[in-house]
Amino acid sequence: MAIRFLESTKTFILETKQTTYQMKISKYDYLLHLYYGEKIPDADLSYLIQPKDRGFSPNPYEAEYDRTFSLDVFPQEFSSDGCGDFRKPSIEVKNGDGSTAFLGKVKKYRIYSGKYSIPGLPSLFATNDDTVDTLEITLWDEASSVAVVLLYSVFEEKNIITRAVKVLNQSAHTIFLNRIMSTTLDYMESNYDFIHFAGRHTMERNLIRTPLRHGVQSIESIRGASSHQHNPFVILCDHDADEDRGDCYGFSFVYSGNFRCEIEKDQFDQTRLLFGINPRGFCYRLKSGECFDAPETVLAYSNQGFAKLSHLYHDIYRNNLCRSHFSHMERPIVINSWEAAYFDFDDDKLLNIAKESVDMGVEMFVLDDGWFGKRDSDFSGLGDWETNTTKIKRGLTEFAKEINKLGLKFGLWVEPEMVSEDSNLYRTHPEWCMHIEGRHPVRGRHQLVLDLSKKEVCDYLINTLNHILDSANIEYIKWDLNRNMTDVWSSGTDVEGQGEIYHRYMLGLYYIFDQVILTHPDILFCGCAGGGGRYDPAMLYYYPEVWCSDNTDAINRITIQYGTSFVYPINTLESHVSVCPNHQTGRTTPFDTRGTVAMDGILGYELDSTKLTAEQKALCKQQIANYKKYYRLIADGDYYRLTNPEKTKKFMAWQHVSKDKCSSLVSVVITYKESNEPQRYVKIKGLLPDQFYTIEGENGVYSGRALMKAGIPLPDIGEYESIQYHITAV
Ligand code: DGJ
Repeated sequence: MAIRFLESTKTFILETKQTTYQMKISKYDYLLHLYYGEKIPDADLSYLIQPKDRGFSPNPYEAEYDRTFSLDVFPQEFSSDGCGDFRKPSIEVKNGDGSTAFLGKVKKYRIYSGKYSIPGLPSLFATNDDTVDTLEITLWDEASSVAVVLLYSVFEEKNIITRAVKVLNQSAHTIFLNRIMSTTLDYMESNYDFIHFAGRHTMERNLIRTPLRHGVQSIESIRGASSHQHNPFVILCDHDADEDRGDCYGFSFVYSGNFRCEIEKDQFDQTRLLFGINPRGFCYRLKSGECFDAPETVLAYSNQGFAKLSHLYHDIYRNNLCRSHFSHMERPIVINSWEAAYFDFDDDKLLNIAKESVDMGVEMFVLDDGWFGKRDSDFSGLGDWETNTTKIKRGLTEFAKEINKLGLKFGLWVEPEMVSEDSNLYRTHPEWCMHIEGRHPVRGRHQLVLDLSKKEVCDYLINTLNHILDSANIEYIKWDLNRNMTDVWSSGTDVEGQGEIYHRYMLGLYYIFDQVILTHPDILFCGCAGGGGRYDPAMLYYYPEVWCSDNTDAINRITIQYGTSFVYPINTLESHVSVCPNHQTGRTTPFDTRGTVAMDGILGYELDSTKLTAEQKALCKQQIANYKKYYRLIADGDYYRLTNPEKTKKFMAWQHVSKDKCSSLVSVVITYKESNEPQRYVKIKGLLPDQFYTIEGENGVYSGRALMKAGIPLPDIGEYESIQYHITAV
């Protein structure tokens, strides 16, 4: 068992191969956190908690005159509210009597084999090869009859611990949950940096690093989606931690809606990290006997810097999160119609693009936005999921057949969660969109959001989508979302139910995914929210891949993919070669470089192939052949970021290494060029030091040690040019 309870000291010990997590039932039955980090042999680290009389930090009633026992000072596993811990709470609840206190004491615990699941929410699962054990600890508040169940699953071999929380109202009254954080982690020190990934539409996931300071640092989304602006993933690390060195802790939240992560450095230089559903806009009613299930957080620890932390997340997400069998399969090379034609097409034009892409080695044609309803621009049509036969004159079924006749698979774009005011759906069901009665709804991209907290809306979408999927030979779906949520109010519930709508929307969405995505295992689903506006683990449970960003500029993409790679596996990241000048930035980069960057993910094309020169088409063919040659290395290998966009302005480099360390692909892009430059070297990683390797196309033989310690001299190539090295053990 990876989980033990030591009766003599009342300590819970959770162990993976390389980590230990400890907590204990203290005097008076409070649950105190003791340790999380590198594996240690000690069975009880209680000595770390040094009781001291601390002024203005109160003492629980049962401590009587002992002024050294304070919940405001001791590290908590789940903090109380209103009962003597003045730091940020794990829970805020309004009890039946109007009081807002919660004081949980350990009532019971249970240890069992296997992974917990969470009703209605995606979470990691155990495969037959995994050893996973689970601990459930029930905290009970005697006065309010509210119970909190803390769930921990330990993936022993994979060095991962997951956490989740349930709240049970066992009182006779209705209570309101105003905050429930899925993870609380108290550290007894604060010598850490806080890393998170901030951004905006077309420039997602830029790494931000700041030392902890007194007070609260936080990131959040209140957009009804995990968002472009902040990703639900953070790292706490040593000040000098880098890719190869230092302690770092990752926290990845398995949820696609509003979230908040708060990090508080307290008066005694201790740290509390909280991660959960954003309390803003959240007030969940629990009637007597009801239970609330909060989403999961995935915790990982590395004592060897960020590269190892990323490998832990990549491995667990590839194997224990994505339900789709495509996760383990080579993906088809897609050509997508969006940047090729936007809304301006008919089926003949698209068939020409498809026809011209066959010779390039493309395997699938994806018909993006504009194929349905009255949809010649983004002003209208969303909600009317019938083929626009003025544009697709043959109808969708026939069009897909024509695509198939060319030897290509067929894929389709949808944006089911939205509605245009100029649509039959809106005219028939104006009450189905998110709006507040008596107010005009806020528009985003001229569209409104459907109210997925309503069962009838979800059922309608399930039927509509399943009908589309059955209407033609569709082998891929790009599921888009192009605005964030406002006017969050629903006519489907009463006044007191309005604080549930953000979360009920997510439950509705996951229900639709269960009924549409999981029932079509042979269709490849790609997630998209104006690019990477909903790139989160909960989405990866359903979609094996995500359109990483609406920005296809190769140079910007390097930074976006750099940030994304900290937690999300490379085989989930869709990346396309587009034309230059680039549509988002106006920059011109060599065709080769666009291929090199797009190969750092799932390679595809986003251009009008009828406008390519013969030379460019030949380059595509070469890119695709190379990509296929290296696919397993890219998809299954360990990923190394060799440079950091903040520090290395001259070139950016990254590397894929096979698990046996015998094969590697190194990619380098020159991002800034000066005249008469010093010789530059790229030092690579992850090889066997004493193994000898060859570099494809060169004569020499080099030790892993030489390649890693001395590096490879970069050739004198121009700005924005790129080079790839394929390294193989001899
Ligand atoms: C946003 C997506 O990210 C694009 O790729 C494209 O599908 C458009 N939406 C279509 O409206």
